[in-house]
Amino acid sequence: MKKIQISPSILSADFSRLGEEIKKLEEGGADLIHVDVMDGHFVPNLTIGPPVIKNLRKYTKLPFDVHLMISPVHKYIENYAEAGADIITIHPEATENLKNSINLIKKFGKKVGVSLNPKTTISTLIDEIENIDLILVMSVNPGFGGQKFIHSSIDKISKVRKMIDDSGRDIRLEVDGGINSETIGLASEAGADTFVAGSAIFNTENYEQTISELRSKIV
Ligand code: DX5
Ligand code: ZN
Repeated sequence: MKKIQISPSILSADFSRLGEEIKKLEEGGADLIHVDVMDGHFVPNLTIGPPVIKNLRKYTKLPFDVHLMISPVHKYIENYAEAGADIITIHPEATENLKNSINLIKKFGKKVGVSLNPKTTISTLIDEIENIDLILVMSVNPGFGGQKFIHSSIDKISKVRKMIDDSGRDIRLEVDGGINSETIGLASEAGADTFVAGSAIFNTENYEQTISELRSKIV
């Protein structure tokens, strides 16, 4: 089993002091920083763009796990690569040509993530499995933090786990949405190895304690 990674989503952070929040996450034991980018079009919410990510880069050495919920995504990939993203995750529905967008992410030397919405089938990934570094299973419909974990995601995580194992490739399996001290165990049991958590961390005072508690529930 791979090293487990906790990727706190800054969507629920205090946006007026994002730099400090990110430092606290690093000190608290986070492995990655999950940055949710939303355009008010692909999803019904708006967040931050490349200049903010660029400015945040100096606050941490942790990799930026950038989740792009924007459409059309292709023409913006370069901006996020240059802003300091380390992993760039895209949704197949947000690009005209998944292969081209994957190749573009690779061209900039970034890790490639592909995200599956609750209604997106795993078969969408079959042709690209050789080119992907991370599969993100959405366990809520994207757009907002603090939503309830969709339990049918467990079955999907198991299926993606099998697909990854069958491929023999080194691909991370990330789960995003409604992860808390109860659901993290279920997702890990099903085969996830990378866990996004937003409200479960930011709704608490002590991020270090919460991150440790989440980690302790992983089986
Ligand atoms: C939802 C985002 C998630 C979300 C996670 O569109 O992709 O990263 O912020 O937040 P919680 O952990 O609160 O569900
Ligand atoms: Zn996300």
